[in-house]
Amino acid sequence: MLSLVIGLACLFVAGGLASSRAGEMTLILGRALYEQGRGVGDREIQGKLGNGVELAGSAAACVNCHGRDGRGVSEGGLRAPDIRWSTLTDRFAPARQGVVAVPYDQSSLAQTLATGRRPDGSGLSPAMPRFDLTENEIAALVEQLIALSATASSTPPPGRVLLGLAPQPGLDRTADQLVQIVDQCPETMRPHPTASIQWVRYRNPDDALRQLEGFRSREADLLLVAPYVVGWEDRFAEWTASQPVTVVLPVAFRNPAGSELWLYRLPSVERQVERLIEVAAERHAGGVTLVIDPRDPLSEHLGAVAGRTAETLNLPLERWVAHERTQPSRPEQPLLWLRPMKEMERFIGHTAPRTILIPSLFYQQSRVPKTGRWVKTDWVVAYPYSPRDSSTGRWLAPATVWGRAACTILASLAGDPSGEFSTSLDLAPWPVAIPPRTSDAEARTRVSVMTNPHRPQR
Ligand code: HEC
Repeated sequence: MLSLVIGLACLFVAGGLASSRAGEMTLILGRALYEQGRGVGDREIQGKLGNGVELAGSAAACVNCHGRDGRGVSEGGLRAPDIRWSTLTDRFAPARQGVVAVPYDQSSLAQTLATGRRPDGSGLSPAMPRFDLTENEIAALVEQLIALSATASSTPPPGRVLLGLAPQPGLDRTADQLVQIVDQCPETMRPHPTASIQWVRYRNPDDALRQLEGFRSREADLLLVAPYVVGWEDRFAEWTASQPVTVVLPVAFRNPAGSELWLYRLPSVERQVERLIEVAAERHAGGVTLVIDPRDPLSEHLGAVAGRTAETLNLPLERWVAHERTQPSRPEQPLLWLRPMKEMERFIGHTAPRTILIPSLFYQQSRVPKTGRWVKTDWVVAYPYSPRDSSTGRWLAPATVWGRAACTILASLAGDPSGEFSTSLDLAPWPVAIPPRTSDAEARTRVSVMTNPHRPQR
């Protein structure tokens, strides 16, 4: 028995020694690759520049261009970037903002070094060589880049500023509620000190943008969480498109155009309209009657979005110019209502439609007609979030949903002592779907939060 124990102990010691020696060898190899361009068996690595020039061994070593500390070097107008592992794997690394937000992992680094393409598909300048490294060499190189991250961490990371954006107190009740909810996130979701949120309270959109610019000129690394931009979504979207500022949980009427800097967006009004058309198609409607207000550019714009979506789904869309003396020609088909609800009963009083599709922006529960034929009308309201609490089933106010999601995001920052944004956050279970017909009128009314399509699989 005793000998067995001793035998096992020896096995453990030997195993430990072997693995630590392997670790040491990896580090030595990683360093040789980085500093001397020497790989397995002391071979000279090859690097090929975009213009065909071949570099070998020490001429191809990363250190020549990226510097001894890995933080990058500028030379003759050309900048070799910071390639410390902490930077390459951080979606919010200030050095990479505006360039790429897709973090690297070992296999994508291998791809990049072989092909000169970043994980997001963009091409690197021809000044960065393409290398002929083996899998073991890549693994060793990653260890070296990790080691460089650790030595550099004695200097404090550049400041990340978490900002919320809301009108000045007293101007908008929903905004005031949102601020209050986020400031009082549940104890378990209390943000880490490095992740506490600062509110920018603005008088008007000009004032908001001016204040945000003030933060940018301080070279702060900005992460905008749950900005309240209701009524000027379009201007805000335009501003963020020209800024390397990451925005989390925005509400906008335009679908933010594929930007990596918009994370965890709530489905825009455009997306809600698209979804409503999809619902009509799923229900095998023969067509949809569209009602817009031609004097209102937003209504007109959303009508165009509906038109495009209907076309791709081969669903006939009939535009009805709402007027007191006219009636929709096909009252049996769903009506997509894209204008304020107060005119609805006046315009279509006699022929209550069977189904009304409407985004929550235009929907007002208090204006739903309750008489005669309207009792049978089926309302499908698209929301940018699930309007019901999944556990209690209770109806939630927009500020509550928005605020809770912001707390969830802040809590994910709290879980990470470095205050970095943990990208593996999942806001599910909120599928983008309107549930099938049920007898519960409210349950039919949801379109929910989209999860971030750019969330990296780790
Ligand atoms: C001859 C100079 C040179 C050498 C040698 C070199 N690089 Fe680069 N590297 C660059 C330049 C310049 C860029 C920026 C290219 C751009 O911005 O399009 C770059 C970009 C990169 C990127 C992309 C970073 C990002 O933000 O996406 C990675 C990763 C990288 N290098 C890794 C390495 C590694 C690892 C080595 C050594 C095996 C190495 N480089 C050797 C010049 C070099």
